[in-house]
Amino acid sequence: MALVGFMGSGKSTVGRILARKLGWPLLDLDRKIEAHERRRIPEIFESSGEPYFRELEGRLLEEALSGGPGRSGDRRVIACGGGVVLGERNRKLLREAATVFLREDPRVLYRRTRGSGRPLGTGSREEFERRYAGRLPYYEEVAGLVVDCDRRPPARVAGEVASWLNG
Ligand code: S3P
Repeated sequence: MALVGFMGSGKSTVGRILARKLGWPLLDLDRKIEAHERRRIPEIFESSGEPYFRELEGRLLEEALSGGPGRSGDRRVIACGGGVVLGERNRKLLREAATVFLREDPRVLYRRTRGSGRPLGTGSREEFERRYAGRLPYYEEVAGLVVDCDRRPPARVAGEVASWLNG
């Protein structure tokens, strides 16, 4: 299963709790990219550029969803980066998987991501909200379930996702 949503929506935190709850491994795509590159995301953006990052992100998403040769992408929790839905092929792969969109008020997300060091989290509020609005249809397009996080504790959100997966 895959968790998607804008930066700051709690994908990594909810993913960690959900994985523990289900007894499935957690695969955090951003961390996977950093491990692969042996450098942090801001540095990848700065030195190699966003297209390079996106290409790698797509490749590792596909790998994560297929689970490697002969194994199923099921029974693992994949926490995606916020921009994963920008790639058309990524969206197709996510539509075919059990994908959950963690939706949160962009004003909350804006406050949460200030000073977090994210390369795309440094602009003005207008820029942030424009990016959010541009991506929203993509998150909705790929998701089998939309969870309104509404500033609820991550454990509650994880519980809702787990019920949907078990249901
Ligand atoms: C990005 C979000 C980040 C990370 C990269 C780009 C984006 O992940 O993949 O900085 O384009 O929204 P989080 O959503 O985990 O912050």
